[in-house]
Amino acid sequence: AADVPDDLVNVLFTEEQIQGRLRELAVEIETDYAGKDLLIVGILRGAVMVMADLARSFSRHLEMDWMAVSSYGSGTKSSGVVRILKDLDTDISGRHVVIVDEIIDTGLTLSWLTANLASRTPASVEICTLLRKPEALTMQVDVKYVGWDIPNEFVVGYGLDYRERYRNLRDIGTLAPHVYS
Ligand code: PRP
Ligand code: MG
Repeated sequence: AADVPDDLVNVLFTEEQIQGRLRELAVEIETDYAGKDLLIVGILRGAVMVMADLARSFSRHLEMDWMAVSSYGSGTKSSGVVRILKDLDTDISGRHVVIVDEIIDTGLTLSWLTANLASRTPASVEICTLLRKPEALTMQVDVKYVGWDIPNEFVVGYGLDYRERYRNLRDIGTLAPHVYS
């Protein structure tokens, strides 16, 4: 196994840039939900870093909960079916909910999740994602809070994995070709 720094060929977003953007998003969300209760829902496992840092950028009270979902089949999203591996512990009826994820790729996960949570009669459901790949979208997803739109390249770090590695990197970047061979 090569050293982690050698595996990253191009850093797209540094730790400082990520933290700065998350603080901006937190301010935006705080403004929009002023005077309202707020539950943020992180989507395991990729959203762990974003949830931890976004939540700590708030200067107000909020609640945190988690869901884990998976596509049927062998990790490909081709089936278009999502199932819940771990559901919320919270009853969201009448609650204001913001779903937090680190990336929207095809849009399957969050379009399905939004519809699923909306059926539980919350006061509102919105999405916050750190990254979005507009060229990869195959599903319609209304996203209120986006960190950055990025090209359709495979990125790792800050929660994003390649075969379960690189999630713990502080930066987000693309992998060197030798990693794949
Ligand atoms: C990744 C990522 C998003 C989702 C985006 O999660 O964290 O949740 O895929 O892809 P989509 O827009 O095409 O649905 P994944 O299901 O790979 O699991 P992980 O979070 O545990 O890495
Ligand atoms: Mg995920």
